[in-house]
Amino acid sequence: MSGNKRILTGIRPTGPLHVGHYAGALDNWVKLQHQYDCYFLIADYQVSDFADDLPRVRNAVWEVALDWLAVGLDPEEASFVVESTIPEHTELMTWLAWFMPVGMLERNPTLKAEMEAIESPEDATTRGKSVPVAFYIYPVMQVANILTFRAHLVPVGEDQLPHIELTREVARRFNRELKPIFPEPESLLGRVPRLVGIDGNIKMSKSRGNTIDLKDSAEIVAGKVRGMYAGPPRGAKEPGTVAENPVFLYLDAFDPDAEHVRDLKERYEGTGVSNKELKDRLTTVLNELLEPMRERRAKFASNKSLVREALEQGTQRGRAIARDTMEMVRDALDLNYFLKR
Ligand code: TRP
Repeated sequence: MSGNKRILTGIRPTGPLHVGHYAGALDNWVKLQHQYDCYFLIADYQVSDFADDLPRVRNAVWEVALDWLAVGLDPEEASFVVESTIPEHTELMTWLAWFMPVGMLERNPTLKAEMEAIESPEDATTRGKSVPVAFYIYPVMQVANILTFRAHLVPVGEDQLPHIELTREVARRFNRELKPIFPEPESLLGRVPRLVGIDGNIKMSKSRGNTIDLKDSAEIVAGKVRGMYAGPPRGAKEPGTVAENPVFLYLDAFDPDAEHVRDLKERYEGTGVSNKELKDRLTTVLNELLEPMRERRAKFASNKSLVREALEQGTQRGRAIARDTMEMVRDALDLNYFLKR
């Protein structure tokens, strides 16, 4: 919908999206698309292992678009945008880089943690990696994404808040020192800040193989839930602890029947509930959530030109805004060398 306020948010195309993406972001986006003028960006400049596996990244761009259509993002309501097809992002980034002291990046806690993880990964993919300059400046690129669209609102996960703060600082500085072009964007947090992996690890990630993907079949979901970590070993009649049990964290995130979840929790801590009962419930809940997505996915997967159209049209709408922004920026920076004076 084209309300007054504009939203820009994005995802890095690293692979198929999972239920953590849904609970933390997509679920919210589906609602926001009816309330605001929404631009959803596939940030293909900002993939940390970019150069290692280009075909995977390119393929993931299509996978993300298909996942978006499957969850019910509507390309008539919202615009899907491929970052690298809008050159204005890079152009603006270059100018904005002059408004950011290096210390701003050095102090960014999310960037710091991610760079450490690249240099010393905890899983077996260890291969003396180093941080590419492009990764170091990805928050600058993200600032440029948001300001290129002159967005008012940016729905993100908690880990992205430092980047939104950076964006606000840059916008303020540009507006003050040159011309007031950019709204100071506000962040919007999703419903579930972070979902644990099915192995109980705090991070759900493809490289750990601990995700439930939006495109998983009903059988795969059932199998993954059966194998899910559900706290320390415990007999079916022994009480357990609800807190931090991944199965309950998932039920909290996805079960629409809060009353039922409350009852399960009570019995679990009282007389004990078998893991089978818990997991059967979660399987049902997840498959009810995913089934309509599977149906929509099938429709788009068998008609790839619809996916391409969604990307092309959204990108075109985005490009028009990006051009307007750059025109204002060129004017503010007095860059119009070849205009008649
Ligand atoms: N860096 C974001 C993430 O990893 C993705 C992203 C790229 C983004 N550009 C953006 C998010 C612009 C919000 C706005 O989740």
